[in-house]
Amino acid sequence: MAQIGAQEWLALLRVLASRRLTRFGDTPGELDRFEAKLCGQFDVAHALTVNSGTSALICALAAAGIGPGDEVIVPAYTWMSTAAAPIHLGAVPIFAEINDTLTIDPADIERRITPWTRAIMPVHMINTPCDMEAILRIARRHRLLVIEDACQAVGVRYRDRRCGAMGDLGAFSCNQFKNITSGEGGAVLAKDARLFERARNYHDVGAFIRGHQPLTDEPAFVGQNYRVSELVGAMLSVQLDRLEKSMIRLAHRRRLAATWLQDLPGLTIAPHNDPAQAVSLCVQTDSRRARQALEETPGIYPLSDNSKHIYTNWTPILNQVTVHPGLNPWARAHREIVYSADMCPRTLSILERTYRIDLSTRLPTPLLVRRMKKLASTLRGHEAGGAKERWATAEPARPLS
Ligand SMILES: Cc1ncc(COP(=O)(O)O)c(C=O)c1O
Repeated sequence: MAQIGAQEWLALLRVLASRRLTRFGDTPGELDRFEAKLCGQFDVAHALTVNSGTSALICALAAAGIGPGDEVIVPAYTWMSTAAAPIHLGAVPIFAEINDTLTIDPADIERRITPWTRAIMPVHMINTPCDMEAILRIARRHRLLVIEDACQAVGVRYRDRRCGAMGDLGAFSCNQFKNITSGEGGAVLAKDARLFERARNYHDVGAFIRGHQPLTDEPAFVGQNYRVSELVGAMLSVQLDRLEKSMIRLAHRRRLAATWLQDLPGLTIAPHNDPAQAVSLCVQTDSRRARQALEETPGIYPLSDNSKHIYTNWTPILNQVTVHPGLNPWARAHREIVYSADMCPRTLSILERTYRIDLSTRLPTPLLVRRMKKLASTLRGHEAGGAKERWATAEPARPLS
């Protein structure tokens, strides 16, 4: 559930009392204040609030000028929106494998580049940053744009930067389940004025009428309506003020939980691209017994259960079906693109043996640690033979999916 306190109530009441519910005119409002705060906190030149993470991704691709004939590399493990976004602009997604960090594998990105590749969309899944150093190097070498999907990683650090603020453009989601939330919502981050101006144009039907000063002489073009109300700006401002504290809490919990889970029989902690600042924790195992123990522990989730986060479940994309046959981007690709359920086998095998420890649970930290200790002792007990009887009398192990 979303963390909502009195500050959100007060902020929303302030907007209602003002009766200025939408962004217009040239006096800065709630959305302008939220965006300025976002830019300052995440060290990015421009930010624009939109109505979802999906529209943030579409807006970013539109700003980047992605269109028919272009190929965009996305990971095979992400929410379906990442792969759907290029399709809305007439481009085709090309799937790349993840590695054990649960993020896109830079080596596989290289293998998927063709003369038609225009952009890479690294996705910082479950608060885990991608190997951005390697990805940015590849992008520079091949002259590709980088559009970060940081929908699941608002506030997460990588080296001295923030997820979403390292590429040419970045996208955040602020839906109910994200690090900051307004129920539904999102934001586009842009590193230069032209990209920002194009994103702003696209999110507002190409109208250019909101009273702002244009930053470039980019001509207007037809867009969508991805605008949000001032209520969203007010709520996200408050949520953003709290974000740092919640990241510190996550990092602390991660350290504690990891201490109890390292060196356990049959279990390894998934590698991380910046362990010093990590705020997420996944464990991996090939052991049937360890899997059973993990699955019986509350607050631990198998990644293979993740439905639409796995490419094999993106049915309309795999079947290449769009709203109208004339809008089908695969028909305009420069080569035949064939998708199949077994095209990213390494991703499937990694997800199959990986479990996420939920560090953001409301459970007090001592109880979370007690949970980890219990799991550790179950696994150790098993190694020592002490738990033999319990294993023997336990329910038969669930078949592995
Ligand atoms: C990785 C990723 N990308 C994009 C999105 C889309 O965000 P939204 O639901 O706000 O459209 C999500 C949402 O869950 C996500 O997890």
